[in-house]
Amino acid sequence: GKVHVIDHPLIQHKITYIRDKNTGTKEFRELVDEVATLMAFEITRDMPLKEIDVETPVSTAKSKVLAGKKIGIVPILRAGIGMVEGILKLIPAAKVGHVGLYRDPKTLLPVEYYLKLPSDVEERFFIVVDPMLATGGTAVEAIHSLKKRGAKQIKLMCLIAAPEGVKAIQEAHPDVDIYVAGVDEKLNEKGYIVPGLGDAGDRLFG
Ligand code: PRP
Repeated sequence: GKVHVIDHPLIQHKITYIRDKNTGTKEFRELVDEVATLMAFEITRDMPLKEIDVETPVSTAKSKVLAGKKIGIVPILRAGIGMVEGILKLIPAAKVGHVGLYRDPKTLLPVEYYLKLPSDVEERFFIVVDPMLATGGTAVEAIHSLKKRGAKQIKLMCLIAAPEGVKAIQEAHPDVDIYVAGVDEKLNEKGYIVPGLGDAGDRLFG
């Protein structure tokens, strides 16, 4: 799918402090939450609208409201959890599914340990969230899991990606658009994004 780099000044500013190793847990959480809200503004840009009549104090206006599409936010455990509240600030009625995947430290391959999705999977519009897209193995697998249960419309939202991760998603899931605040230089030999932001799960939860 398409890669949308959301480089709004407010997002770039906050990403800098998310990257900074001297940013402590409290501030890191707040920044991830804030960036998730700002990115949600962009990821919802093409949400369908319908026209209705509304009575203003003066007359009747033809005006638009959301067409009532069902939304599902799916954080990849653990680190994706840090982005959920921020998105819910803009889409408070969204349901939240959870998918648990960790990277095996030896093989770097993703292992699924939890999956629970909201109802109406087939009609729902899903936003899969994870702060980091490194090799892409985790997100590729998470999206596979959703598709296996019938999900048809999926977008992926990450804070920072490596080019390798973007490529992996585009190859495995060409129908999935990627929304990211920055695409970094590369992966190191341990599969970490360089320069990246470290291990988001550890920085959020310890
Ligand atoms: C991190 C990150 C992604 C994954 C990215 O999670 O939050 O889920 O690694 O790596 P990949 O693109 O190479 O698959 P981690 O395995 O550290 O688990 P955690 O969130 O529970 O800490």
